[in-house]
Amino acid sequence: MKLAVIGTGYVGLVTGTCFADMGNDVWCIDLDEKKIQNLRKGVLPIFEPGLEEMVKRNYAEGRLRFTTNLSEGIGDALFAFIAVGTPSDEDGSADLQHVLDVARAIGGCIQKYTIVIDKSTVPVGTAEKVRRVVREELAKRGRADMEFDVVSNPEFLKEGNAVEDFIKPDRIIIGADNKRAAESMRELYSTFVRKGDRVMIMDVPSAELTKYAANAMLATRISFMNELAGLCEASGADIESVRRGIGSDSRIGNDFLYAGIGYGGSCFPKDVRALIYTLKKHRSEARILSAVEEVNRLQRALFINRVTAHMGENLKRKTFAVWGLAFKPLTDDMREAPSIDIISGLRERGASFKAYDPIAAENARKIIGDKNIEYVNNNYDALVGADALLLLTEWHHFRKPDFDKMKGMMKHPVIFDGRNQYEPEKMKEFGFTYFCIGRKSDV
Ligand SMILES: NC(=O)c1ccc[n+]([C@@H]2O[C@H](COP(=O)([O-])OP(=O)(O)OC[C@H]3O[C@@H](n4cnc5c(N)ncnc54)[C@H](O)[C@@H]3O)[C@@H](O)[C@H]2O)c1
Repeated sequence: MKLAVIGTGYVGLVTGTCFADMGNDVWCIDLDEKKIQNLRKGVLPIFEPGLEEMVKRNYAEGRLRFTTNLSEGIGDALFAFIAVGTPSDEDGSADLQHVLDVARAIGGCIQKYTIVIDKSTVPVGTAEKVRRVVREELAKRGRADMEFDVVSNPEFLKEGNAVEDFIKPDRIIIGADNKRAAESMRELYSTFVRKGDRVMIMDVPSAELTKYAANAMLATRISFMNELAGLCEASGADIESVRRGIGSDSRIGNDFLYAGIGYGGSCFPKDVRALIYTLKKHRSEARILSAVEEVNRLQRALFINRVTAHMGENLKRKTFAVWGLAFKPLTDDMREAPSIDIISGLRERGASFKAYDPIAAENARKIIGDKNIEYVNNNYDALVGADALLLLTEWHHFRKPDFDKMKGMMKHPVIFDGRNQYEPEKMKEFGFTYFCIGRKSDV
């Protein structure tokens, strides 16, 4: 089948590449000339496990092509996926500017029946807006009679596991208002759901809302555990024991129950904000999600407080080793990463840093800058002469480091663990002053 994917970021590139890998004929389209040129040379704009090899192979075999020219890319494709960013506007609502720009461009160039697919995360009612814009553009061209459909097909992939998630999805949500579009989408996705029917067809507004509901639910679980972590610290309970205790309940499950420095990334923060905005627009209150957001914000502030309570408010002569900058492991995405607020907060108090992240350092530098911060290539190098270690992203190789070596390199054996990676008792035995979240430590 022929398809065009507009927006070649985390979602668009993975979507286009995975469809190409199943034998489809795919054009990936982006405004960013440099990104497209690099992709043609096999240089990817993002890190995602397994993606580079797939892009290169499908490009070499001619199933995956890249262009900045939307009408070339759409050609006679049946499917046009919109996978551009939907960042937060100032009031928290999703900014639909890019989505509607693409809709306008699609309306300006399609030559035959096309299914326009909202893959970007967009609020309820967006498909209607896209439909209106495409129709207006067709009318301007004197092609008001041309048929097209608009479908909602939100994406649930997780950065760091995006290819795997796309190829083996838990479910594929398709919001369509007619059978023709719905069945074409089902056919397109059939190669990914051979083991069982995980395609769910529903009305368009329900599909649009499902994506926000999923992210808001996951963010809620994280904030819930972070709130309980505070209670654990006050009452002598242990959040890890509580997590195991509740996670074993099949009604609850184990995922997204980890206390820490809160959620970040390109989706949860902006999607929670957008859902709060939509709720307020429709019902005037967003009690649960406002609390979720507040707890998440607080969690970063509490971590900074924990550091200053031990190290003092004036951090002018203090150097911190930082392990992990990305918002989570296995990605180079720095959007709304907790490390940004934590480093900024401590830097305002005079602190210096030696920071290590296996792949996000370059992106981090663009956001955090170079002031008082040196980016190093190895986690142990970050420790040389450090007054304390801040563990901010739970990269796998931080799980079992050589603690004796670490102690020998640091000025003071102090760890502030924002991701609860170590056992407090063991850390005591190793001779560290150890702070973590919601557990009995040196708090
Ligand atoms: N990143 C994730 O993990 C994830 C997961 C599920 C859903 N989503 C949603 O998918 C959407 C895309 O997210 P992303 O992380 O891939 O974004 P991204 O910022 O990585 O990529 C967006 C791309 O769109 C391009 N673009 C913008 N306007 C364009 C236009 N008019 N024409 C062509 N290209 C244009 C940009 O140059 C950029 O390359 C968002 O709505 C996001 O919420 C993201």
